[in-house]
Amino acid sequence: ASDVVRRDRFSGGPARGFLSSMDDDERIFEADLAVDRAHVVMLAEQGIVDGDEAAAILSALDEVEAAGFSALPDGEDVHAAIETAVVGHAGDVGGKMHTARSRNDEVATCIRYRLREDVLDAIEATLGLRQSLAEVADDHAETVMPGYTHLQPAQPTTVGHYLLSYERAVARDTARLFDAYARVNRSPLGSAAFAGTPFDVNRERTAELLGFDGLVANSMDAVSTRDFLVEVVAALANLATTVSGLAEDLVVFSNKGLVELSDDYSSTSSIMPQKKNPDTLELVRATAGDAASGLNGLLTTLKGLPRAYNRDLQNATPHAWETVDAVSEAVAVAAGAAATATWDDEALANAAGEGFSTATGVADLLAMAGVPFRKAHEMVAESSEKVAEANESIAQSNVKEAYLDALDAAAEEILGDALDAYVEREAVAAALDPEESVASRDSPGGPAPDA
Ligand code: ARG
Repeated sequence: ASDVVRRDRFSGGPARGFLSSMDDDERIFEADLAVDRAHVVMLAEQGIVDGDEAAAILSALDEVEAAGFSALPDGEDVHAAIETAVVGHAGDVGGKMHTARSRNDEVATCIRYRLREDVLDAIEATLGLRQSLAEVADDHAETVMPGYTHLQPAQPTTVGHYLLSYERAVARDTARLFDAYARVNRSPLGSAAFAGTPFDVNRERTAELLGFDGLVANSMDAVSTRDFLVEVVAALANLATTVSGLAEDLVVFSNKGLVELSDDYSSTSSIMPQKKNPDTLELVRATAGDAASGLNGLLTTLKGLPRAYNRDLQNATPHAWETVDAVSEAVAVAAGAAATATWDDEALANAAGEGFSTATGVADLLAMAGVPFRKAHEMVAESSEKVAEANESIAQSNVKEAYLDALDAAAEEILGDALDAYVEREAVAAALDPEESVASRDSPGGPAPDA
């Protein structure tokens, strides 16, 4: 009880609100109750408190839980408030709960306990997105679409190949989150303020009761480090960056009429009733900025902190909560938008031939016939330039003919021989076709449906 009185004495004054982490701590209310219970069970097992004392504290914790976070008394943080409430319910014996520990190991344990759940939710969101992408990719394994570099039409690919390019990237984000999870899932409890305790605590036992995979062994490291927050937030920022690319693509593709977002993931204008805007995807895109700022906020708060515990750490934690919430939500929204969007096969096929995007295939064909690739590149460039002036797409047959003639002239000029001395005119005509072009690129991981 005297501990509680001392705390009251030091938490008054004009800085009271400034000191308090109560608002952010609602997130670790359940975690703190779990940590308190595990600690008390261990204290009883070790004979540090007796069975009746432990029982009284555990009943008080049940009452605190039943009353809920909002019923807690005022306090500097949730740890202090719960302890005050326990003393309120159990009397002086409640003051034994904090034997052989500090808020420093307590808070570090609570954050890890709660974060495990959040990381698993984020992982689940990545799995949902990957499932959407894979399912739509499966439906569109053969749907030809334009592929871009520098946002210019480059080479035809398929919607399946395109979507799986993101599925594979998100798979690595899933793996990074699992990797971070393994290091989050370690217990700092029993480190006390930083320098251990003379009580015969059993750290393995509390770790086991709380479902941790082991200890953060060094007691000074255990209370000081927030590197596990950095790892998680970095993985989330990476994930959000991946997904922002997908969001941006879908914004651009819907602008080109290649894909239509479902109404559920679109918004309209308050003044222009005809508008259908990709607002949800724009917010998904923006989340990458929030995640990067979360990572930056975390690192700059942690940089240069001396050993061991410093109150700065209290301000580090919310960066992780905000980032994990924002990114998990954005990933779920991206999954829904991707699953419900409608790809326009005809518009995609037309666009796939735009900008002479099959020209690389013609150069490949010439190179396969023994023409040095650099010369083939020159021939194709010259022919494309000549024909492109008047036409946009190679898909029309008259353009194809004009292109073949131009290529013939380029062969005479650059190779000193007719085109058909190297390749059949029909083979070149086929290579100019977007679908044939895709089918021919069956190298491992390439867009040909089998690959
Ligand atoms: N609320 C604090 C935090 O989030 C934990 C309290 C440790 N306080 C202290 N003065 N040692 O980090």
